[in-house]
Amino acid sequence: MSTGYPDLDALQPRLEAIPTLGADALEAEHTAVLGRKSGVLTAALKGLAALPVDDRKRYGAAVNRLKGQFEAAFSERRERLAEERRRREAAGVDLTMPGRQRWVGAEHPVTHVVDEIVGIFRELGFAVATGPEIETEWYNFLALNFPADHPAMDMHDTLYVDAPPVAAEPAGKLLLRTHTSPVQIRTLLASPPPVRVVIPGMVYRNDAMDASHLPAFSQIEGLAVDEGISFVDLKATLNHFAHRFFSPATRTRFRPSFFPFTEPSAEMDVECQLCHGSGCPACKGTGWMEILGCGMVHPAVLENCRVDAERFTGWAFGMGPHRIALLRYGVPDIRLLLGGDMRFLEAVGRPGPRSGERE
Ligand code: DAH
Repeated sequence: MSTGYPDLDALQPRLEAIPTLGADALEAEHTAVLGRKSGVLTAALKGLAALPVDDRKRYGAAVNRLKGQFEAAFSERRERLAEERRRREAAGVDLTMPGRQRWVGAEHPVTHVVDEIVGIFRELGFAVATGPEIETEWYNFLALNFPADHPAMDMHDTLYVDAPPVAAEPAGKLLLRTHTSPVQIRTLLASPPPVRVVIPGMVYRNDAMDASHLPAFSQIEGLAVDEGISFVDLKATLNHFAHRFFSPATRTRFRPSFFPFTEPSAEMDVECQLCHGSGCPACKGTGWMEILGCGMVHPAVLENCRVDAERFTGWAFGMGPHRIALLRYGVPDIRLLLGGDMRFLEAVGRPGPRSGERE
């Protein structure tokens, strides 16, 4: 409602805003309008004395009416805020309490290790391949040059699947793959050399769980087949990998070994990441830790994949990211990687990638 005085009308929106003010803003507004020293209405009343008598009466009445409206609005708002505060306190809500921090998820340490290893090989020009976790005996064992009566094929060592074999696949019972090596066969059959792939995936063995064994664990297989590939390529590539993944100064060594699908075969050790070679309980006093098996692809394997073994040679490796995560993070028991112990997860976790950050 207009008072007929623009300076007073200009205060109308502020009067109407009072029911929306919080406690602090309300007191500040009270001082600004009605404060004894600097309130705008106080100043208007003080200015009355300087006006002619008629004006003084009319203007004074308008100022006083507005002052009354402001006073009523202030006291109503104060009462309303006090009432709200009483209700919150009765309900036990304390708005001054700090909020709960949001739990930011982290990548699982094994996922992180797999991504990092695959990333290093991708930089070297390796593609990523995958294969099925339910395999046939042919891919898992026979094509990889395991003799037909190899003990790994025993029911006690391998988990067989109680289902008829897939008709289109080469013969043999169905099983949960015991390693990622069968994907070497699938890769070479699908695409002739030159081939350079890394193959991450889960594998399954009929093993009891203990501090260093799981019945289901991850592997990363590597395979390079081309003309003129030699053991020098194998050593140089795997040394490069160890230096990138662990540290540039990490020492490595290759020990002779045996796998049916490689000839010659080797196991690769890196210097113990905890004691750096002096010997500690983690490396059983040897100063070394085994990280992978490797070797030159056996000519029989190449022939099983219809690759001319006179023309092409290759090398392969297989490593276990679960075990490598233990080395990387100094974890004493592989079972910790499966548990939900927050103290462990917070110690080894890192903020996960935001969406879109992954390839
Ligand atoms: N498949 C082997 C295992 O699970 C690991 C392995 C060893 C893979 C040597 C390879 C290799 O490709 O060349 O124990």
